[in-house]
Amino acid sequence: MNFKQELASILSDLLGQEISLKDLELMIEKPKNPEHGDLAFPCFTLAKLKRKSPNLIAEELCGKIQSPIFEKVTVVGAYLNVFLNKKTASEKVIGDIFAQKGKYGAHAFGNGGAVTIDMSSPNIAKPFSMGHLRSTVIGNSLALIVEKCGYKPIKINHLGDWGTQFGKLITAYQLWGDADKVKANPIKELLSLYIKFHEEAENNPSLEDQGRGWFKKLEDGDEQALALWKWFRDESLKEFSRIYELMNVQFDSYAGEAFYNDKMGRVVQLLEKQHLLVESEQAQVVELTEEQLPPCLIKKSDGATLYATRDLAAALYRQEEYQFVQSLYVVGHEQSLHFKQLIAVLAKMGYEWSKQMHHIPFGMMLKDGKKMSTRKGKVVLLEEVLNESIAMARHNIEEKNPNLSNKDEVAKQVGVGAVIFHDLKNNRMNDIEFSLEEMLRFEGETGPYVQYTYARACSIIRKATGKPQFSAATYSNSWEKEWKVTSLLMEFAPAVQRACVNFDPSQVAKYIIDLAQAFNKYYAEVKILEDSVEQQARLALVYAVTEVLKEGLRLLGLEAPDEM
Ligand code: ARG
Repeated sequence: MNFKQELASILSDLLGQEISLKDLELMIEKPKNPEHGDLAFPCFTLAKLKRKSPNLIAEELCGKIQSPIFEKVTVVGAYLNVFLNKKTASEKVIGDIFAQKGKYGAHAFGNGGAVTIDMSSPNIAKPFSMGHLRSTVIGNSLALIVEKCGYKPIKINHLGDWGTQFGKLITAYQLWGDADKVKANPIKELLSLYIKFHEEAENNPSLEDQGRGWFKKLEDGDEQALALWKWFRDESLKEFSRIYELMNVQFDSYAGEAFYNDKMGRVVQLLEKQHLLVESEQAQVVELTEEQLPPCLIKKSDGATLYATRDLAAALYRQEEYQFVQSLYVVGHEQSLHFKQLIAVLAKMGYEWSKQMHHIPFGMMLKDGKKMSTRKGKVVLLEEVLNESIAMARHNIEEKNPNLSNKDEVAKQVGVGAVIFHDLKNNRMNDIEFSLEEMLRFEGETGPYVQYTYARACSIIRKATGKPQFSAATYSNSWEKEWKVTSLLMEFAPAVQRACVNFDPSQVAKYIIDLAQAFNKYYAEVKILEDSVEQQARLALVYAVTEVLKEGLRLLGLEAPDEM
């Protein structure tokens, strides 16, 4: 039980049944101003229930609250301000961190339920875009966060490996392709073939027919078509894997769009059986008039299936295969309509579990205020971006700590971490301005700043004579300078919980920035290693901070080098 819950339970005993324990807990706030204590309870809601002035209620409650975990309780207007007993609280939180280590801050409310996370999902034969980067980074962090809350995450890379574009690509390759060139530089080469197809098709419309023809062959299982498709897919995956390796991201499944090829017939049958499929301009659609959405296209006039058809099949498959309690789709906000339609069609089919599906949208990556595009010539190659970030981090390390032994490894952890942290520190709906200089700064709200703080704390521990140890006897109520950092340590679990229920990793990012800032301030004020009666308790605090910073970084997908 945390302190908030304890206060809620004391209030509940005093107030009786009128307000539930859960509601009381939700009403308790954390005052912004430390002079107002560690917890605050506003009495406005009670005033209506009890028909008494809120100030009077606060006064009455104040006289009755008694617990060894509180140092004092005061009243300011309609607020009860509660000050924790610093000795009891510090003992508890630091003791917990020593006992639980990396498990500190965990929750059990996920109950082992499966959460499928559709993430990254780049399109083969096309460059890995900034949008795919965001999806990878956000999805990976959400997987770690839901796992910390007791769910079982299943990371699915829904590769864009099927669709009419592959008919066009095969056509282009047959006409102008060169196997050696593709092998040497697959995505670049395939992309230029694809672009050439569109340029030529403007003057030669028969190319479009050929493209459709090849896609039809592909859907019908033609061997030659399939062999080329598979080769394009394998080569593309090799390139994507290098990016995933750099970012240390793994998937539980690579079942992409093509995987659902033999599973769409069933979807179409189910829709027909329920009379949900209607003909419109020779295509088959599901009308969504009641839902105030445009119709969802299921089959084209030539019988070819679509993106939405494959997503319907995928949703059914995921429910049957994993029995998800939640199914997340981490995809840019420009696909919001698609996911609304998808969920609406499944609801129309009577699937209750469609309510457990959530589109997790996010904003764009901008460069100088404009969208970073991967279309036409303006390709931003993500691998180059990551490698540049690593090179810059390496340069910084060379300047700051030339004697570091594993510079290359640390440069990778810092360089990649900087890009990830920059993505996750703001609410995901915000657009992000991409600036490597900004991301890599050692001051300010950056990944390297938090990593650097962690490394600094580790170095204090290395320099100390003994190992950090927890001993309850070392804490006292004069723990004043330490209090800000200590009380922040108690906020880790609530931050993790908020991140999980709102699908918002920035809650964890903001939290570790706060903790790092508070720790650096403390470190500037107090000579931790100086001989004093408090040395052991202080060293234990430093250790507690390292554990929480490291775990917070891990939940975002960043590593924490001990030295940098
Ligand atoms: N491949 C798609 C794209 O790049 C994203 C796929 C998202 N996931 C899904 N189940 N539709 O736009």
